Formats: sequence, C-alpha cells, structure tokens
Amino acid sequence: MVVGRGRQDGRTTTGIPGLDRMLKGGYPPGRPYLITGPNGSGRTLMGLQFLMEGIRHGEPVLLVAVDEPPHEIMENVRAFGWDLSKIHTLDANPGQLAYRRLGSVQEIKSLQEVRSMQELGDQRRAPAQTEDITMQSIYLRLRRQLETLPVRRLVIDSMTSIRHFALRATGEQQTDRTEIQSLLRFLAEKEVTTLITALPPPSHELTPEQVICRGEVLLRKEWSGPMMKRTIQILRMRGTPHDTEEHTLTIGADGIRVEDETPLNAGE
Ligand SMILES: Nc1ncnc2c1ncn2[C@@H]1O[C@H](COP(=O)(O)OP(=O)(O)OP(=O)(O)O)[C@@H](O)[C@H]1O
Ligand SMILES: [Mg+2]
Repeated sequence: MVVGRGRQDGRTTTGIPGLDRMLKGGYPPGRPYLITGPNGSGRTLMGLQFLMEGIRHGEPVLLVAVDEPPHEIMENVRAFGWDLSKIHTLDANPGQLAYRRLGSVQEIKSLQEVRSMQELGDQRRAPAQTEDITMQSIYLRLRRQLETLPVRRLVIDSMTSIRHFALRATGEQQTDRTEIQSLLRFLAEKEVTTLITALPPPSHELTPEQVICRGEVLLRKEWSGPMMKRTIQILRMRGTPHDTEEHTLTIGADGIRVEDETPLNAGE
C-alpha cells in the first residue's frame, strides 16, 4: 500500500523498477546508502531515478553534482525524456568543459550555491568560482541549504570525485572520516534519505562511507561476447530483509530497471 509521498509502507521508494521488491518496499528512510560500481555501471542514473521518484511525489530533492556538470547531466538523460528541472543542484564540478572551451590550462574550481537544475543547465558556467571542493565545503553548503529547504532525498555523485578534488585542493591523503561522519549525522537528523555513489574501493580497504552507510548496493558490468552485461546486488542493508542475489540490470528507453525478479533469497 502506498502510504505517503515517495513512501511505501514507511520505506523510501527507489525509483528503479524491480529494486523496491528486492528491498521489500524500498530503502529504510532517513539514512545514507552507498552505491558502488565501476565507471559506466549506472551509478548516476540510479541516483537520478531516485531523485525523479521524489519529484514525482512532490518531495524537494537535491543533487550534489561532482562527477559531471549539471548541463551535461541534463543533456545525457534527454533521450529518456526526464525533466530534471525541479532537482535542486549543488554544482561542485570543476568544469573541465568550461576551461577547455576557453583554451585555458588553468584549473577552475567551482562550488556554486544550490540552484535548480534548469537554471544550471541554461547557464554555461562562467569560470569565476574559486572555492575548493572539499568534504568540508560541501558540508557547509548543504547545511546552510537544508536549514531552509526540507530535502527528503539527496544524491552525492560521487564520493570518489570529492576525495579526488579534495586531495588536489588540500594535499591531504584522505577525506577525513569525521567530516563525512558529521555530514551524514546531520543528514540523518534532518531525515534525508541519501545515496552516495563511489567507485568500488580496493578489496582490502574499508572507506569511511562504507563504515557509516547503512547499506551498500553494488553495480557490476562485464562484457559477455559483444554484449555488455550489467548486474545489481544488495551487499548489505540494515533494517530490512532483502534479496541478496545478483540480478540483471538493463538500461532501456525509461532508464534502468532490474530485469530478473526471481524469488527473494533469505534476508538478513
Ligand atoms: N541517455 C542514455 N541512453 C542510453 N544509454 C545511456 C544513456 N545514458 C547513459 N546510458 C548508459 O548507461 C551507462 C551508465 O550511465 P551512468 O552515467 O549512470 O554511469 P556511471 O556509473 O555514473 O559511470 P560514469 O560516472 O563513470 O559515467 C552509460 O555508460 C551508458 O552506456
Ligand atoms: Mg556517473
């Protein structure tokens, strides 16, 4: 039974056909979840579908765009017919396109105020921003924003890039666990269901976000002859029984979906 906005039996629906069933209704709300996968595995699309699902239910949603500039994200999903204009966006992309166009070798760092995706898509960024992209600067922006905007869903795409840019900005080897912890604790207080995308860490490493997130979904892709095979698997998920099997994921005209809804495996 649908009992609320983007909620199903107290869960936050994922926006991915087939995934809610794997999660017995959706994500337990108000918590952070980690979406890992290699490049091109569907992390950004999964995040966008999650936000679009919120928009469909009238929820304010926010994207922290680090991997790609917003206007490029909008162009990428045009084929799906998605209208991202209602997604509030914190543009934290350094804007390679802008400086390539200008023929400059100088790096442009940008961390813009939260704007609507439409506004950011229309506005080809002027290379004027100079604030470093660090976990701390993103946290401060989000904190300020969430004091006035009652965001229910948030996507940070991606933690890998934040770490990469923070390393270049500060020279510090690792984004401090306490900064990530502060951010995620704050988001939990605000009851924001958050998806954090990242490349899978090396198997011997445990990243702060792995420790702090309440669940982890792994996207895989591999070539099977001339065909690309994509899969999705819930590695762990606190607070709900869930399907632990690896399922086929496809990217079609409507975005991504879980194809193989075989009976649920034993939950945890
Ligand atoms: N508009 C589209 N039409 C068809 N396929 C698409 C479209 N957009 C993306 N895809 C496919 O979906 C794949 C996954 O896209 P997505 O942007 O979610 O990847 P990702 O995991 O975020 O990786 P990365 O950030 O490294 O590109 C793309 O590599 C592409 O093959
Ligand atoms: Mg991406």
